Amino acid sequence: MRKIAVFASGSGSNFQAIVDAVEAGELQADIELLVCDKPGAKVIDRARHFGIPTYSFLPKTFASKADFEKEIVSELQSYGVEFIVLAGYMRLVGEVLLKAYEGCIINIHPSYLPAFPGKDAVGQALKANVAETGVTVHYVDSGMDTGPIIEQVRIPVLPGDTEQTLQQRIQKAEHQLYPAIINKLLQKDTVGGILH
Ligand code: GRF
Repeated sequence: MRKIAVFASGSGSNFQAIVDAVEAGELQADIELLVCDKPGAKVIDRARHFGIPTYSFLPKTFASKADFEKEIVSELQSYGVEFIVLAGYMRLVGEVLLKAYEGCIINIHPSYLPAFPGKDAVGQALKANVAETGVTVHYVDSGMDTGPIIEQVRIPVLPGDTEQTLQQRIQKAEHQLYPAIINKLLQKDTVGGILH
């Protein structure tokens, strides 16, 4: 079974969907660790509930991103983690993690990239008055939501949508898409190079 870590900063509904898929036998993976950069985040309670170990840290207590990423890498290695799933981790991944897990870090973003990268993708889509937005799963590189795209789905923006209603529609799609894609990637032979 492939050993994965999930990185999250907030509510963790995608984390929950991943855990549920593992429990249901739909995702063949061992979730070894939750990494969280917000010690009070709700996602930590979710991990505790399922007995999943958590590494939480306060970035501002470290001198640099490289310093906290070195600690993260040593935590990941102590659990034998092979693959990293970002699920609402509100931070750019730096050199140290990218080098240690090259081609083995993926992210989910609530837009049809390259449209609306970065923060508040749902608000950006509403402001732009588009008829469709989407969800994208992509490999992580040093840019902001710029890595190679793995899978995308389109989501309609409906008349009268608010950030809340649109986000709910997007998250529903995310919760189905992400565990399925993770499972597909982990079934491939290679870990340690880009899994296409
Ligand atoms: C998701 O919409 C994801 O696309 C984005 O951050 C959000 C995290 O939500 N990267 P949650 O914490 O999984 O509920």
